[in-house]
Amino acid sequence: MTQGARPSGAITKGAMTKGTTNKGPKLRVAVLVSGSGTNLQAIINAIDNGTLPIELVGVVSDRPEAFGLQRARDAGIEAIAVDFRAAASRAEYNRRLDDELARLNPDLIVLAGYMRILPAKTVNDFRGRMLNIHPSLLPAYPGLDTYARALAAGEQWHGTTVHFVTPELDAGPGILQYRVKILADDTEQTLRDRVQKGEYLIYPQVINWIAEGRVKFENDCVMLDGQHLKNPSVITES
Ligand code: GAR
Repeated sequence: MTQGARPSGAITKGAMTKGTTNKGPKLRVAVLVSGSGTNLQAIINAIDNGTLPIELVGVVSDRPEAFGLQRARDAGIEAIAVDFRAAASRAEYNRRLDDELARLNPDLIVLAGYMRILPAKTVNDFRGRMLNIHPSLLPAYPGLDTYARALAAGEQWHGTTVHFVTPELDAGPGILQYRVKILADDTEQTLRDRVQKGEYLIYPQVINWIAEGRVKFENDCVMLDGQHLKNPSVITES
């Protein structure tokens, strides 16, 4: 990957950006999606309403039919399909994805419902410059089917976590969580609906913290306003 001389972990704003904020060039952000892209939409909405001064340089999906790509096109953002099923091999898919990311040259990659495991090389190339949102209160329930598993286990709380991505699945250091109390009559769907409302709040929030330089990734730790964040900050549903 041709990521210039930028060391992983160091977010340098807008090496090639056109737009600027009052404080300088805008953070260039690429979003990866596999599905409906409601988190992407929350990010687009936050940009449109002026609360998230970043530049979305592209939306990439492993599935050409992902509705997230349509959301990008509707918002005038470059939509790129790197079709996993059309690739001759996983290695070829990974190479094509890396090429697209290198071309977009983002300061930050945001995984928003991207459902493939990225190769360690890509993760390491963007170490400290890649975020994920995962629907559980990590470290609880990494992996799939988090709502069903939390309900089956009789948990009192469930939620969602924004974290920096490291090569271990759903294990990178957490930045911000949104938690909801599980109600006696909750189903997977009702729980998901409440948790996702929180996602639309916390994902733009964390991206904004990074754009403002308030959140940094230093020595594999999250720094918030210059303080080591040992555990993610938590917002509880009101
Ligand atoms: C989100 O709820 C996100 O937490 C989850 O996928 C959903 C995507 O929804 N991500 C994962 O499960 C990653 N392990 P969206 O496409 O509507 O934003």
